[in-house]
Amino acid sequence: MKHTFSPRPILSPQMVQMIATYNEDGSVDLMNAAWGGQLTQDILVLSLDETHKTVANIERNKCFTLGLPSCKDIVDCDYVGIVSGNKVPEKFANTDLHASKSEEINAPVIEEFPITFECDVHHIVEDEELGYLVLGKVRRILVGEEFLKEKNQFDVEKMDLAFFSPLDNTYRHFGDVAAKAFSCGLAKKK
Ligand SMILES: Cc1cc2nc3c(=O)[nH]c(=O)nc-3n(C[C@H](O)[C@H](O)[C@H](O)COP(=O)(O)O)c2cc1C
Repeated sequence: MKHTFSPRPILSPQMVQMIATYNEDGSVDLMNAAWGGQLTQDILVLSLDETHKTVANIERNKCFTLGLPSCKDIVDCDYVGIVSGNKVPEKFANTDLHASKSEEINAPVIEEFPITFECDVHHIVEDEELGYLVLGKVRRILVGEEFLKEKNQFDVEKMDLAFFSPLDNTYRHFGDVAAKAFSCGLAKKK
């Protein structure tokens, strides 16, 4: 027997995605965004509530960075996800995170995050059913050297990227390797 539920956003786990933008006065705003992901090789999508300070900043600057944080920074990532820059303009200063300006776009790069996508706004979709969607075109991806192994292989263990589980409203670690992708299935191939 399977129990049925009405449609709800429980596809799990989701990356904890941190959207960084500049406010009008040049200070940094950062928000937590679970709803979104990679659409194509170089297009990302964000599903945002239009009232967010981040949305005003994205519309003005036409760019943003999307950072993937480590679990060690999860308290700051949750904080900026429950407090708006509209009400607390200094919210980024209340975190222990550090930002520098991207060399490519007018948006902040959060130094602590292992992976950062520097994005231009490609397209904004405003739709009654779909809501407010930002499609970002990735210009470059920055990865801290300390998170790379030999031959530029990603050190996934060291990154300890944070995931969000909407099934039980928890943040989770990446977890152990279950099997090798594009490979373990070969055992079944006739
Ligand atoms: C785990 C988590 C996931 C979130 N995902 C989203 C999301 O996908 N889209 C969104 O609009 N808000 C999302 N939020 C809420 C925003 O991060 C929050 O409203 C934030 O305060 C907006 O900041 P701003 O007004 O400074 O831009 C999420 C919050 C948390 C804690």
